[in-house]
Amino acid sequence: MKITFSTPSEAKAGAIASGVLADGKLPADTASLDKRTGGALTRAIKASRFTGKKGELLEVLAPPAIANSRVVLYGLGDPKALSETDLEGIGGSLVAHVNRTGDKELALMVGKLSGKKPAPAERAARHAYGALLRSYRFDKYKTKEKADKKPSLAKLTVMVDDPTAARSAYGRLSRIADGVFLTRHLVSEPANILYPKSLVAEAKKLTKLGVKVKTLGETQMQRLGMGALLGVGQGSAHESQLLVMEWNGVGTAKTPAAKKQTPLAFVGKGVTFDTGGISIKPASGMEDMKWDMGGAGVVVGLMAALAGRKAKVNAVGVCGLVENMPSGKAQRPGDIVTSMSGQTIEVLNTDAEGRLVLADALWYVQETYKPRMIIDLATLTGAIIVALGNEHAGLFSNNDELSEQLTAAGKAVGELVWRMPLGEAYNKLIDSEAADMKNIGNRSAGSITAAQFLQRFIQNDTPWAHLDIAGVTWTSKEKGTVPKGGTGFGVRLLDRLVADNYE
Ligand code: BES
Ligand code: MN
Ligand code: ZN
Repeated sequence: MKITFSTPSEAKAGAIASGVLADGKLPADTASLDKRTGGALTRAIKASRFTGKKGELLEVLAPPAIANSRVVLYGLGDPKALSETDLEGIGGSLVAHVNRTGDKELALMVGKLSGKKPAPAERAARHAYGALLRSYRFDKYKTKEKADKKPSLAKLTVMVDDPTAARSAYGRLSRIADGVFLTRHLVSEPANILYPKSLVAEAKKLTKLGVKVKTLGETQMQRLGMGALLGVGQGSAHESQLLVMEWNGVGTAKTPAAKKQTPLAFVGKGVTFDTGGISIKPASGMEDMKWDMGGAGVVVGLMAALAGRKAKVNAVGVCGLVENMPSGKAQRPGDIVTSMSGQTIEVLNTDAEGRLVLADALWYVQETYKPRMIIDLATLTGAIIVALGNEHAGLFSNNDELSEQLTAAGKAVGELVWRMPLGEAYNKLIDSEAADMKNIGNRSAGSITAAQFLQRFIQNDTPWAHLDIAGVTWTSKEKGTVPKGGTGFGVRLLDRLVADNYE
């Protein structure tokens, strides 16, 4: 879908969308459209349950006297109460609606509202950003889809008095959308196509944006003593990889400015397929485990977003990439591995593999970069879905300030996080009889004991947060700015965290 901005003019073809305020009041541009239709819009509003509440849509089909196929009225409610995510959601819902009608074009009218905020150009950019985010579709393997089953919309024209201002605000936002789309793409690819080395190949494309990308293979990881990560991958025919991406937005490592700014670190679980290993998962639903690299997908997409919008920050992204397979070479329940930190781990369940991968990735990033803050993302536990469903990611942290920053960023972009507890009583649950720790607790508090495990690999109280994104990485319901499938949850959240607190 192509998105352009222009000054308001009479759209001749396709659908036209225009705003309605609370209690069905028409702003000036919608009122004049109503006039051109001979009052068809006010009649339609009266004849329906549409009241102009934010988020509501009303379609008025082929009104006489205008050339458009349909008018789609969108509710704005009280403009003073419109958040950025409300505006984006409106753009998203409009696109989803028109895509089902067969119309190829949509003119979206963004007129002046009384009162100053939000300004029309800002509203226009947010609507367009939401429309763009919702338009994502992973259809590269559908070779026989009929045109009448595909989304119809090819062109969105956002009509606003100051298209130049809207275009430039949208330009910045679309760089973030590029990152979100990359993440959605990576989590959507099946595991026969996306495995550690092919994921690395995708990440290497970020060099175009100025990101430095390097990788460690199994020999190098062995030398560093990454026995926890390597144990997970040892049953796979695919070689495990450690992916390292650097974005130096403040300066290269040699310039004094950059020296002052030690990087922020983002660490991702990249299990390109999780069969469970020898502790194998049941067949039903196992296909979902192609997106068990969702944390790594977010870290790659985030680096794309930060570099794409030239964020004034230094950031490093590290992803542990492995495939968890059963085989004659696979690790067994009861095996004891030694992590890069020197701590030993008794692997009682080979399906609790994400924490093993992260243990070495976390240690590596601290040893190599001494980051000022670390955030890891992982589709780590089914238990977080039991606790929080698909509405919030689980947040675990050793730092109240960072937790508050993440919670606020989440609210601002509509990617919600909910803080969960950590504590010594939980930590004890993963002490092992045979090694320094075991990789599972008992049946209770599964997401917390997983987070406690990770915390054992955080040095000297470095501010650290762990996001368990198992419940929010994939969705079976489309909504707002998010189509079905990979959500990209985390990219917008962390981009916002960086923009609001670290630039
Ligand atoms: N990748 C899974 C967690 C998961 C489950 C992600 C559902 C997305 C959807 C993880 O590796 C796993 O298998 N965790 C186990 C841990 C258990 C063995 C302690 C789980 O949650 O059952
Ligand atoms: Mn698992
Ligand atoms: Zn997993």
